[in-house]
Amino acid sequence: MHAPLPARTEPQEDAQRLKIVIVGHVDHGKSTLIGRLLFDTHSLPDGKIEQIQKACAAEGMDFEYAFLLDALLEEQEQNITIDTTQIQFRTAARNYVIVDAPGHKEFLKNMITGAASADAAIVLLDAREGLQEQTRRHGYLLSLLGVKQVLVAVNKMDLVDFSQETFNQLEHDYRAFLKPYDIDPLAFVPMSAKHGHNIVKPSDKMPWFSGATLLTALDHLQQPPAPIDRPLRFIVQDIYRFDERRLIAGRIESGQFKVGDEIVFSPDRKRSKIKSIETWPAEPRQTEAFAGQSVAITLEEQIFVERGHIGSHLDHGPVEGRSFSARVFWLHDEPLLVGQTYTLKLATQQVEARLAKVDRLMDSATLAPLNESRSSIGRNEVAELVWQARHPLAFDNSDVIQETGRFIVVQDGRIGGGGVIFGAQYEPAANAVRSAHISWTDDPVSREARIDHFGHRGAVIWLTGLSGSGKTTLAVALQSRLFRKGIAVTLLDGDNLRHGLCSDLGFSDADRSENIRRAAEAARLLAESGLVVITSLISPFAKDRQNAAAISRKAGIPFAEVYVSTPIAVCEERDPKSLYKKARAGEIPGFTGIDSPYEPPVNPVLELRTDLMSKEQSLEHLLRLAEQIAHRDSMPGEELAGFSI
Ligand code: ADX
Repeated sequence: MHAPLPARTEPQEDAQRLKIVIVGHVDHGKSTLIGRLLFDTHSLPDGKIEQIQKACAAEGMDFEYAFLLDALLEEQEQNITIDTTQIQFRTAARNYVIVDAPGHKEFLKNMITGAASADAAIVLLDAREGLQEQTRRHGYLLSLLGVKQVLVAVNKMDLVDFSQETFNQLEHDYRAFLKPYDIDPLAFVPMSAKHGHNIVKPSDKMPWFSGATLLTALDHLQQPPAPIDRPLRFIVQDIYRFDERRLIAGRIESGQFKVGDEIVFSPDRKRSKIKSIETWPAEPRQTEAFAGQSVAITLEEQIFVERGHIGSHLDHGPVEGRSFSARVFWLHDEPLLVGQTYTLKLATQQVEARLAKVDRLMDSATLAPLNESRSSIGRNEVAELVWQARHPLAFDNSDVIQETGRFIVVQDGRIGGGGVIFGAQYEPAANAVRSAHISWTDDPVSREARIDHFGHRGAVIWLTGLSGSGKTTLAVALQSRLFRKGIAVTLLDGDNLRHGLCSDLGFSDADRSENIRRAAEAARLLAESGLVVITSLISPFAKDRQNAAAISRKAGIPFAEVYVSTPIAVCEERDPKSLYKKARAGEIPGFTGIDSPYEPPVNPVLELRTDLMSKEQSLEHLLRLAEQIAHRDSMPGEELAGFSI
C-alpha cells in the first residue's frame, strides 16, 4: 500500500510579534498596566472603553484601567478555542502579545512544557514595597524559563512622591539580586500605570529620569529570528516507498531547505543531498521548503534514516548525546524517581532514559528553591535534572530551537511531565572530510540481541602509560582471565597494530594521533559487535585519549581510561625491549618520556602503580573494573568515577 504524499502546505505565517510576559505580584498593578498599555496604544476594540466607563458609572464606581483587562478576559473565556490567554497590542514599531494574564494558573506549566514561551519579560515592582519574597522568586522564574530580555517597571511612583532616591535604591538592590541568575535588565522605568506616567509619554513629574518610557523600551527589544531564519530542523516522521522512490517524510520545525542541499541526519550523522521535494499535487515542482511545512524528500544516496532522526544543515546541527540537563515540571501522582528509567519523547524520537540526578528542586506554586537533597520529584514540583539516555539522541537547547529542546516524560503510558533542555554544548561544525558517496548499512542485529547472546555488553578498557609500564603484560593477562570467565574479549595492542592497520604510521605527534584514532575506531567497532575490548597503547596525548573516549561514548559504548602509572625511572630500569637504552643513545628520536612528552590522565577510572603493586593485585582491580563495566547497567564513565585506587 502506498502512503499518500503530503499535501502541499503554505509556509507558516508567523507574523512579527514580540511575545512578552508580565511578571509581578497581583497587587503591584499588573492588570492596570496591561489596561493602560492597551488603551494608550489604541489597541482596544472600538467602543470598549466607553462601554466600560458606562458600566462603571452605572455602578457608581470610578473607572479603572484594570477593568479593561477583566472585560477582555471575560470575552476570551467565552471563546473556548483559546487555550493560552493572549492579549495583543500594537505600536508603530510592531505587534505585541502578552502571553499570560494575571492569575492564569496554567501559565507556569505551559511555559515549562513549551506550550507558551516569551521573548521578553516585564517585571513589575511596587515602588512602595521594595524587594519582596515574591519579586525575588520572579527573578528566579525568569532564569528558569530562559527569558533573556528583561525590563523592570517600577510602578506606583506617584505613591512615593516620584522619589528618585527610592527608585535608585530599588534598581540597585534588584540588579544585585538578579546578577547571580545571569539576568541583566535592559532598563528600569519609574512609572505609574494608573496615571500614565512614563508608559507612553515621558512624565513631567520625574524630570530626573532621562531614560526611555516603558513603550519605547519595549520597542527597543530585539525580535528573535522567525522560525524560518533559524537553523534547519527537519523532523523525520516516516520513511516509505512510493513509485520506487524512497521517501523521507517529515515536518520542518525551523529553517528551510532546497533541492541540492546537503542534509545531515542526527543522531547518526549520515548525510546526503536532497534530490527532490515531493508533495501532492506534484506540479508545480517544489524546489524549496520552509518552517511549518510537512514534506517528503528523496535523497541522492541510500543512507540510513528512520523516524526520530532530525535533518539539519552541516554546520548548524543539533547536539548529539546521551546526557543532558533539563528543567522538568512533574504532573503525575507517582513521583519521578532518581535511578529509574523513563520513556522520553522528543520531537519524533523516543528514548529510554534514566533520571541520573536532581540538581535543583523548587516548589512550582511558589518557585521557592527547596534546599533539600532528594531522590524523587513530586507532583507539581519543578526541578533541574540530569538525564542519561540509553542511546544517543539529537536535541537542542530550548532557547535555541524550542521544538527540539523540549520533551515529555511518559509514566504509565501517559504524560507524566514535561521538560526543557538547557546548558548543552554545541560542537563546532563537523569538519571531517568525507566522501559524499558513502552510505550507511544498517546493522540488522540489534545491540540488545548481542547483549543477550554474550550475556554482557561491549565496552572499551583503554590502557595508557609509558613504554615498559606494564600495559601489555596486564592486558594479555586480563584478556585470559576474562576469556575464562566466559566474557567475549579481545585485545588491541599498540605494537601489533603497528604491524598492520597502522603500519604506515611513525611516531610524530600527528602520526600518533592518527594511530590512536584508528585504534579507537577499531575498538569501537569491536565493542559494538559485543566484545569487551582491551587496548594497550602508550597514547601519550590527553586530547587523543579524549577523542578515543568520545568515539566510543558517542556510539553508546562504555569507555574506561586506565592509567598504568609506573614512574619513568622504573620503566627505564625494566627496559624489556632495550628501547630506553637506544633512545638515550639517540638512536630513537622522539621516544616517549625521553624527548617526547607523556601527558598523564587527569581523571582516569583506574590508576595502577605497577611499581608498588604486584601484577596479581593490578589484575584484580582490572578484573573488577571489567566485570563492572561489562555487566552493570551504568552509563559510560559515570559511577565508575571514583573507582580509582
Ligand atoms: S603511541 O604513542 O602511538 O600510542 P604505540 O603504543 O602505538 O605508541 O607504540 C608504542 C611502541 O612502539 C612502544 O612500545 C615501542 O615498542 C615502540 N616505539 C618505537 N618508537 C617509539 C617512540 N619513538 N616512542 C614510543 N614508542 C616507540
